[in-house]
Amino acid sequence: MKTAKDYFNGSANKWDKPMRVALANGVSGAIKTYVRLSRTSNAMEFGCGTGLISMALAPHLKHVLAVDMSENMLAVLEDKIARNGVDNVTPRHLDLVEGELPGERFDLIFSSMALHHVKAVDSLLGILFQLLTPGGVLALADLDAEDGGFHGDIPDVFHLGFDRSDLRQMLEKKGFINVSATTAHVIQKQSATTGTTAAFPVFLMTALKTLGPA
Ligand SMILES: C[S@@+](CC[C@H](N)C(=O)[O-])C[C@H]1O[C@@H](n2cnc3c(N)ncnc32)[C@H](O)[C@@H]1O
Repeated sequence: MKTAKDYFNGSANKWDKPMRVALANGVSGAIKTYVRLSRTSNAMEFGCGTGLISMALAPHLKHVLAVDMSENMLAVLEDKIARNGVDNVTPRHLDLVEGELPGERFDLIFSSMALHHVKAVDSLLGILFQLLTPGGVLALADLDAEDGGFHGDIPDVFHLGFDRSDLRQMLEKKGFINVSATTAHVIQKQSATTGTTAAFPVFLMTALKTLGPA
């Protein structure tokens, strides 16, 4: 049976389509608007894919560890890094859900459209909390709750988007504070359930890890 990893490995070379580039621009733009980025900050992207967002934010950060479980997605990112002479983005093959940890902590962790592929979101949020430095920021972008029309038969879609208030509560239970959300982008595409063009809003939720003892 096909897994999400098979799907992403098979899609990597044609991933950067205009719809996904527009989404990544919307999400990276929202992160620039709502999160204080600094050339002293060490960041990690969870589920970086071909690095559309890591590459957009890297000029505003000290370093980005771009993490993904798909070797082929990371190979596309490696190629972009080499072609553009980028020296502060490091692709890393890791599956955080399988307990593979980067061995360092980050001032900022961001992620876009990866959370709905994670079955145990609650456990992942705990891992991300531990990976942040005190005062660190988490910025998560994903679909608002939808009816399944966004993905159709793509494998391992464990969540049909997220209810913002449910996700906020999960973050607060982990110890995050100052949780807030905005709409970062709206994807217009054909719905697999209705067959007609539908709007799929994507939120950006930001949250702060307290400065207290970790
Ligand atoms: C829908 S793609 C989004 C890629 C990229 N963030 C973007 O916006 O173009 C989801 C990505 O998350 C990665 N991913 C899903 N689950 C993961 C996990 N447990 N660990 C690491 N990467 C994961 C997939 O391999 C895939 O590249």
